[in-house]
Amino acid sequence: MTKNIVTLSGSSSKNSINKILAEYAGGLVKNVTLTKVDLNDFDIPLFSVDVENGQGFSKGVLALNEIIEKADGFVISLAEHNGAYSTAFKNVFDWLSRIEGKVWRNKPMLLLSTSPGIRGGQSVLNIALERFPFNGGNIIGSMPFPSFNENFKEGEIVNAHLKANLQILVDELEKAL
Ligand SMILES: Cc1cc2nc3c(=O)[nH]c(=O)nc-3n(C[C@H](O)[C@H](O)[C@H](O)COP(=O)(O)O)c2cc1C
Repeated sequence: MTKNIVTLSGSSSKNSINKILAEYAGGLVKNVTLTKVDLNDFDIPLFSVDVENGQGFSKGVLALNEIIEKADGFVISLAEHNGAYSTAFKNVFDWLSRIEGKVWRNKPMLLLSTSPGIRGGQSVLNIALERFPFNGGNIIGSMPFPSFNENFKEGEIVNAHLKANLQILVDELEKAL
């Protein structure tokens, strides 16, 4: 059966550069269907144990959990806010971890980050590289994508070195599916 790759941006920005990158990288994976997640499409309250105890899981978080359950693999690109996860992503991650601690179910994952700056979200990437394995993250490959606006133009990576590196990681993900 055709494998199902979930692309996800760790951002709630409508024009998220991480969404663009995650979907671009997902599009390089051969012979798969893509399920493109936009966090804006899921109605998920701000996590607190009180909300959890009082209202339980929202439809939005249950729907997202179902999408993750049905995935064969992930391409995730994280936005960096003050050196860490965006609030939107951390909120979703916390909720998902209350349903299933192994949020990512040991399914193969390509983990990216990008920002307009030269470090390309390296700090948030480091946080996720250290943390995700405790949550069932099976990270096949990772890379920060620096200076997004200079290196990605009109739907294409214009930096040959970055493009080649991403292709190597995509090939590894394909093999792991
Ligand atoms: C509150 C806030 C904090 C930010 N902190 C960082 C940062 O620590 N490092 C960085 O490279 N970019 C930082 N940025 C810039 C983001 O990388 C930029 O907004 C990027 O577009 C976010 O990704 P997105 O478009 O996928 O949401 C920050 C932006 C915001 C709004």
